[in-house]
Amino acid sequence: MVNDPKQIEPLSTRQLLSPKGFDEEMAKKGKELVNQFYILMKTAQIHGPTNVAMEAPIENVFRTLRGVWQWSDDAYLRLEGDYLFLDELKLKMDIDGFTSFTSLIDALKQLQIGGILFKKSSTTGDELKRFVYILVQTDPNTPEPFEGVTQRMKTMGIASIEVDPFEEKKESFDDILRDTKEMAKSTYFRTMTAVAEVMDNIKLGQAVSVKRAKRVVQSMVDLLLQEESTLLGLTTLRSHDEYTHHHSVNVCILSLTMGQRLGYSKKELTELGIAALFHDMGKASISPEILNKPTDFTEEEWQVMRRHPILGVKYVIKLKGINEMTIRMVTGIFEHHLNYDSSGYPKLDTKWELSLLGRIISLVDCYDALTSSRVYNRVPYPPDKALKFMLNKSGRAFDPILMKIFVNSIGIFPIGTLVLLDTNELGVVVQTSSSPDRIDRPKVKIIADPSGMEVDGDVIDLSELNEKTGRFRTSILKIIDSTKYKVDVSRYFL
Ligand SMILES: [Fe+2]
Ligand SMILES: [Fe+2]
Repeated sequence: MVNDPKQIEPLSTRQLLSPKGFDEEMAKKGKELVNQFYILMKTAQIHGPTNVAMEAPIENVFRTLRGVWQWSDDAYLRLEGDYLFLDELKLKMDIDGFTSFTSLIDALKQLQIGGILFKKSSTTGDELKRFVYILVQTDPNTPEPFEGVTQRMKTMGIASIEVDPFEEKKESFDDILRDTKEMAKSTYFRTMTAVAEVMDNIKLGQAVSVKRAKRVVQSMVDLLLQEESTLLGLTTLRSHDEYTHHHSVNVCILSLTMGQRLGYSKKELTELGIAALFHDMGKASISPEILNKPTDFTEEEWQVMRRHPILGVKYVIKLKGINEMTIRMVTGIFEHHLNYDSSGYPKLDTKWELSLLGRIISLVDCYDALTSSRVYNRVPYPPDKALKFMLNKSGRAFDPILMKIFVNSIGIFPIGTLVLLDTNELGVVVQTSSSPDRIDRPKVKIIADPSGMEVDGDVIDLSELNEKTGRFRTSILKIIDSTKYKVDVSRYFL
């Protein structure tokens, strides 16, 4: 038998592309479709069906559709919440496509259309044209615009295009969470890179600019205002090698949380965030042997370590120009180990009253240092123990009022705390309760079932009441020391 070469199907583009590459390609086509379809609708609003101006937009939509049909039998453009999808692929709008996206979404919503299906083999230019005129000519103010559209489609014999009704389905909580989580993660890592860059430049004796850091802190401030708990969750991230960078970003996030509680403006938050981010700048010139020493410091090494606030101040002054921001940075750096009662270092001859910014940074700095595993070779404290330890020093090392606000804002079960529930399940606190009288009832992700088996469980809100009994469904029995059980809680935030 002779193989007929014609019978060997050529590899489709789908087979040639990796799944990621395929999605990217489809996303591009999807965006193009939104764009071209919007242009077609705009043109149809201005010109009649026989006008020559309609030809190019029709052809452009068709060209895009053919691109999609290469890989799939139908092209299904649908609207869910405020997002457009091509089949299951969410289309992200960018600056260029912004107008077409939002306008098309508005138009579809007004007509109560939730999806348009263009069938591969049967859609013709003529039907496409008739369909677009139905869309632009249907009055969205009629009681049932969607029925109006489908009725007219039937009368005009359009069978190759189908429409689905729009369902006012809220984007699921999971979806929103996923998006902001991605954003939070990228901001966290971008901030880490910005710190690393500045520290490296100091080490190399090069000119240092904090412009980039300022931009990332600004986006962190924006994010904090909408998604605080995700950012706080990321402060559980630890890395041995990049301890100082993680620590810097964590202190920045925690300081911002405090600033927000204290009613800081966006500008004030940014300044606080920058000062916090670079509070340990002086460590750039301390040798890694000392910084990463696995055993206790000698007295000499302590002396070197204690110099980092003064060194940090020097670096900041060397930054191009002194302005409001560098002054805040100097304050934060100089004061962060001084203690509320100035019993810390650098040693001063006179009593020094710490600025609010310095008091915030020194407090959250201590919390992050205590809960991290990298600091001075100590076993990290679980969040609750760290708070207890710090409460003991309230009024001496820390401003007692700020201490209270801090406990309140991160909760008595801070994000990342491992807890045992009265159902015998094990969970990780992923969000503290927003109401102050429910501070002991955070949101918890279940990570082990009552038998101790690891599970990828639901997130449950401990402040929710059982409808029948009127009592709380579940409560926290006790805190489990995550370090003892070697549970890396940070992975629940990635
Ligand atoms: Fe420090
Ligand atoms: Fe620090």
